[in-house]
Amino acid sequence: MKFGYFDDGRKEYVITRPDTPYPWINYLGSENFFSLISNTSGGYCFYKDARMLRLTRYRYNNVPTDAGGRYFYINDGGTVWNPGWAPLKTPLDSYECRHGMGYSVFDSSKNGLRVTQTAFVPIGADCEVNRLTMKNTSAEPKSFQVFSFVEFCLWNAYDDMTNFQRNFNIGEVEVAGKAIYHKTEYRERRNHYAVFGVNAPIDGFDTDRESFLGLYNGFDKPDAVLEGKSRNSVASGWAPIGSHCVRVTLAPGEEKSLIYVLGYCENPEDDKWESPNVVNKAPAQKLLSAFTTDAQVDSALERLKEYWNGLLSNYQLDSADEKLNRMVNIWNQYQCMVTFNMSRSASYFESGIGRGMGFRDSAQDLLGFVHLIPSRARTRILDIAATQMEDGSAYHQYQPLTKRGNHEVGSGFNDDSLWLIFGVSAYIKETGDWSILQEQVPFNNVDASADTLLEHLKRSFDHVLNNLGPHKLPLIGRADWNDCLNLNCFSKTPGESFQTCANFESGIAESVFIAGLFVAVGPDYADILRRSGLKQEAEHALCEVQNMTDAILKDGWDGEWFLRAYDAFGDKVGSRDCDEGKLFIEPQGFCVMAGVGVKEGMAQRALDSVHEHLDTEYGIVLNWPSYTSYRLNLGEISSYPPGYKENGGIFCHNNPWISIAETVLGRGDKAFSVYKKTCPAYTEEISEIHRTEPYVYAQMIAGRDAPRHGEAKNSWLTGTAAWSFYDVSQFILGIRPQFDGLEIDPCIPADFGNFTVERKFRGATYRIEIDNSAKKCKGVRSMTLDGKPVAGNLLPVCGDGQKYIVRVTMG
Ligand code: BGC
Ligand code: NOJ
Repeated sequence: MKFGYFDDGRKEYVITRPDTPYPWINYLGSENFFSLISNTSGGYCFYKDARMLRLTRYRYNNVPTDAGGRYFYINDGGTVWNPGWAPLKTPLDSYECRHGMGYSVFDSSKNGLRVTQTAFVPIGADCEVNRLTMKNTSAEPKSFQVFSFVEFCLWNAYDDMTNFQRNFNIGEVEVAGKAIYHKTEYRERRNHYAVFGVNAPIDGFDTDRESFLGLYNGFDKPDAVLEGKSRNSVASGWAPIGSHCVRVTLAPGEEKSLIYVLGYCENPEDDKWESPNVVNKAPAQKLLSAFTTDAQVDSALERLKEYWNGLLSNYQLDSADEKLNRMVNIWNQYQCMVTFNMSRSASYFESGIGRGMGFRDSAQDLLGFVHLIPSRARTRILDIAATQMEDGSAYHQYQPLTKRGNHEVGSGFNDDSLWLIFGVSAYIKETGDWSILQEQVPFNNVDASADTLLEHLKRSFDHVLNNLGPHKLPLIGRADWNDCLNLNCFSKTPGESFQTCANFESGIAESVFIAGLFVAVGPDYADILRRSGLKQEAEHALCEVQNMTDAILKDGWDGEWFLRAYDAFGDKVGSRDCDEGKLFIEPQGFCVMAGVGVKEGMAQRALDSVHEHLDTEYGIVLNWPSYTSYRLNLGEISSYPPGYKENGGIFCHNNPWISIAETVLGRGDKAFSVYKKTCPAYTEEISEIHRTEPYVYAQMIAGRDAPRHGEAKNSWLTGTAAWSFYDVSQFILGIRPQFDGLEIDPCIPADFGNFTVERKFRGATYRIEIDNSAKKCKGVRSMTLDGKPVAGNLLPVCGDGQKYIVRVTMG
């Protein structure tokens, strides 16, 4: 069942009824100011850091769900309604929510009044704009009131929801004309405040929540709105809010608009005040004056659309499959930008107060982002690398504002550093910017320790070699990619973190997954060394890759698939000898991607085992059988009920690993069928089962051992976005940046048909027309560049701003 449809022409998903199976959200903002906005206008906003600088309050896990947002209440002769339906949920005559690239539009009507609410964060401005366009579609004149509403957060979102003995006393606001200023803590250690303004004369305002709502009322029964009268309240402690009341009169057919701006402003430390205790409003005035007319808003919206059209034009597909086109051209790339910006911090499943930026998460996010804005990818790489330790290990997380490693979580996740090599290789392949390797980057943010990024890569690679176990396989440490396989953390205490209670230093628990990852990144690493003039080191690295390959083939093979690990007692994990957890997806994906066992036939066998034992209607589960009891020696994985999360859930992140692995074997049909199973556009039809947004990936879909098989959770902030784009763009469609050019190597179903990709690459545009009338899954027979034959399948770097026509014949 569907709850809307894709409007590809406008790059929008159109939600046609408000009661979606879960709140379906969008993200506004791409630089410093960000908002989350649901299909009923719920959500919140923050400046740079969702924990430290949150502008508006949001109560997670609230009842009813998704209560709190930027709300507009219409009181039309006693009929009170919201253009986003919630919170009043008054039945509407029509409702539509269009989530687009960095903006959302609610278009609703009631009793001959049509209201269009357009929400967006303009490029280059630290604010959220909401424009309400109101049209009288009736034959009678109309006079009604519009009440706005936001509830301010006292900046630190964690403190805001815990420290009430203090917080109920500190709230402060100012009201000046049409603008409301939230200035809690501005008198003391903050130099920033929030402003909420509107571009029309107001009839009243409220800044105190209790006065506006009534103490015992919810957002769905605000006294002021229902009575049609603002209280002109000035908050003093308790809960500061922002609300304006504007009366609007419309002749039949007439249309008017109101523009609301909610912004973040900073003042220099020595210029905070206009007069004693009166904030310096200059930055706010400047911000508000930038969005007071429809023309200004229209041009800011236009600029936002151009920005996105420009970004997305870097990779555009034209194939016979419209679902594939919309994912590749619009939504998957969009989600890659959002995951790059947010890491795993703020979504409807991540509270914004939990995790910082993950070392491995951010490194993997690069795979789907680097072609969009390479300069930002470069900065990110240098930030991540600066949280690496001198011994090559890494802080598992760092904080976005300070960019410092997070001490509470620490290090010891032994896969982390290898992802840095992965990310840097992807960056250089995209840009050809070898200079990044010579950048001086500190270790653990200590400036004096700085060395080149190349040196960081060496330490990453060597860290694995310096930490090998009894089978010459990498020691796992606290966990590898699978944060829940905690082989050295024997946790018995409720509430304790499974990952960080490393209390069982076996020194022998080994990961076959890390071994596969090592072999996968090794050749690129060796290439980087060779091209940096380090021939001997390059050869040595390749020897180590061979040694690791041998170790996997010898002690990492279980007969029909690759083993997952050896635990703290040297026992096998992910083996047919195990009673549960016999087979795991991760090493199958990575070992085959790395080419391990391809010539021996093991790779093929491993993937066949995946299809035989792990595949389901809705995607490939992480492990089989799921664990049914808690295992001290395995940790968090066995804490999840069977079929959820890392315990037999369909962990979407590593489904593309299998899809890519299939392309390594040339099995295009299988690669594409794995891709489609978890791809949102293909599961749109089962939205009532799947429940999360049909335009973005979720981290997990419940596996077959769960009662709610097929139900997704944790949408938006997942490495699945980057991996799926990497898979489809570089391996299925096969347009793959390499150090020396653009490799063309599609691996598709035989009946996929012809397709065209327009790809911007290092300053030139390549229009690549793929002819597969031969109905092959893989193989390029011939290729021409502007009519001239190209030997092999690598397009040279043209880099001259020109457009080239590339004709590729598969066969
Ligand atoms: C989740 C993992 C996640 C980890 C982060 C666990 O509870 O299951 O998916 O990586 O927390 O710390
Ligand atoms: C989510 C985490 O963000 C990621 O780092 C981890 O690899 C996966 N879960 C698997 O546990």
